[in-house]
Amino acid sequence: MSGPLRVLQVASEAFPLIKTGGLADVVGALPGALAAEGMEIRTLLPLYPAVRQRLERAEPLLELGELMGGPARLLAGAAAGLALFLLEADHLYDRPGGPYQGPDGADWPDNAQRFAALAWAARALGLGALAGWRPDVVHAHDWQAGLAPAYLALSGLPRPATVTTIHNLAFQGQFPASLLSELRLPASAFTIDGVEYWGAIGFLKAGLVYADRLTTVSPTYAREITTPAFGMGLDGLLRLRADRLTGIVNGIDERVWNPAADPALPAPFDADRLEGREACRQALVAELGLDPGAAPLFGVVTRLTWQKGTDLLLEALPHLLASGGALAMLGSGEPALEAAFREAARGHPGRIAVRFGYDERLAHRIFAGADAILVPSRFEPCGLTQLYALRYGAAPIVARVGGLADTVIDANEAALADGVATGFQFAPVTVEALIDALGRATALFRDRARWRVLQRRGMTRSLGWKARAPAYARLYRELLAERERGSAARR
Ligand code: ADP
Ligand code: GLC
Repeated sequence: MSGPLRVLQVASEAFPLIKTGGLADVVGALPGALAAEGMEIRTLLPLYPAVRQRLERAEPLLELGELMGGPARLLAGAAAGLALFLLEADHLYDRPGGPYQGPDGADWPDNAQRFAALAWAARALGLGALAGWRPDVVHAHDWQAGLAPAYLALSGLPRPATVTTIHNLAFQGQFPASLLSELRLPASAFTIDGVEYWGAIGFLKAGLVYADRLTTVSPTYAREITTPAFGMGLDGLLRLRADRLTGIVNGIDERVWNPAADPALPAPFDADRLEGREACRQALVAELGLDPGAAPLFGVVTRLTWQKGTDLLLEALPHLLASGGALAMLGSGEPALEAAFREAARGHPGRIAVRFGYDERLAHRIFAGADAILVPSRFEPCGLTQLYALRYGAAPIVARVGGLADTVIDANEAALADGVATGFQFAPVTVEALIDALGRATALFRDRARWRVLQRRGMTRSLGWKARAPAYARLYRELLAERERGSAARR
């Protein structure tokens, strides 16, 4: 092998171009971190209108002909420091609404074609359609890219190594078997060892079957998903491939998440200058119309879904209020949850403030101004909000699952005595355990000196990608070395 190792990452979102959750944060930050490891990463994205708007440059690269119902081509582009390949296929992506759903909140009816097309473009790049740039590794993120490793393996041609990363096993991308040939999948692949999943075509399942290596975003989640309780029906397959599966905790992008230089904040701060943080807290309280005397101020920034456990928080609210606390929530998602929190806010003005919708800058202000951030998830592959909370000096209060278990050190007596505690964990994921953790956090908060130690400890932990990227670099190198050995053995 000569020159830098080349990786094509394939994904449906990347911050700051298009984002619905943590996947975008990871896809947007990984290339920079891997560049520091001497690797060359390019990212393949669909050319949604939001992405087109934010491109700094774009030029046509390769005609792909007819693709899933219309003409398609690849553009080369750049934005926010990312080297991009963009799949231009206006019949699939040029429409208002989100990357997965229309303005009415319903999934796009042609999501199978939309993301099969993305994977097909990855196949073309992987098989060397561009003379100047051929990847050594194709790295597929989540179900939207799941068919890429499948198309490459099924091509029967010399191909790059492939990796599938699971960011969330709850989203699997299942589509009717009748689409098989339209999606350019051979009938022979429609078996239990192939793309078939309970009589349908499983995009994530395909990625898990055909990729050379599998990763997920924390070691605890990597273990959890091999069990029926967390495996979402894919635990059997994941057990079979357990020797190919690793968990690598996500990092945070320290250029975007740095309280000492964050344009969204009213005042800068860091672990040694916490006065700025007090100014951020006061500004947030004023912005949300909260009672300045209510404390601790608990913050939540989340998608409102069953996964995130905010229904448990609803039930715990009376306790939170009774002990003097306040709540600042930014969320978007299920209408029933939004309605319930809106109702709670109406009943407790000054103590509960809710904002619905997606607001990146308000999210930053909540991490900077809240005393603690609540993450009561029922499952959490990694979770990024507890990491942003740590960096911004808000103590995370988290359910002991997945990446939350791996990234927060509980403030039990031993950890407090050692000065290593950074937040609060609770288990099992029940209202009672959450209430208990709220009580522990409130008690420690009233002990200002000990709280400061915990807060500073979290703020100074190394959370950036610099510490995480070497694990991906090692994985790619190992995988290529393994393939070298394999082909040497065949020669
Ligand atoms: P998930 O990807 O499962 O939603 P993560 O914790 O990994 O969970 O990532 C969530 C990301 O989305 C974080 O960057 C968080 O700040 C952001 N986020 C979630 N909800 C909102 C919202 N309503 N407004 C702004 N940002 C949000
Ligand atoms: C998913 C998971 C979340 C993780 C994110 C980025 O959205 O729900 O836990 O942090 O992907 O990997």
